[in-house]
Amino acid sequence: AVIYVLNGPNLNLLGKRQPEIYGRDTLEDVELLCRDVAGDHEIRCLQSNWEGQIIDWIHEAREQAAAIVINPGALTHTSVAVLDALNAFDGPVFEIHISQVHKREAFRHHSYVSLRADGVIAGLGIEGYAAAVRRAVMLIGD
Ligand code: DQA
Repeated sequence: AVIYVLNGPNLNLLGKRQPEIYGRDTLEDVELLCRDVAGDHEIRCLQSNWEGQIIDWIHEAREQAAAIVINPGALTHTSVAVLDALNAFDGPVFEIHISQVHKREAFRHHSYVSLRADGVIAGLGIEGYAAAVRRAVMLIGD
């Protein structure tokens, strides 16, 4: 099956922006790491700075994907539309934050996406993506 790994705004700069918070690993490293733990499943790793594009990919996932791993970036804290799109997806959904958002500004403590997510990981760096993909594989089967 296919597992979508979606990344929202500013995550194209992963490895370059605020490395003291987000580390030095890039989105390419995230993709390789996810492939490493996905077994026979296909990883489709996508990033956009545009909310509408993220929503379109979630809609596409309805037909194409068995599970979604998503780091919505700042859309986590703002987007009812991303939540609604995820609510229209039937498979398991995992929410990832590279940083430990609960240790940061109060506006990062609330997540719309958590109302839908089957699991939430924060603060494990890019290892969080791997843990989520492993869990997705467990749930959807090999
Ligand atoms: C983030 C945390 C968000 O608060 C922030 O807006 C991001 C990245 C994380 O991976 O830690 O862009 O989702």
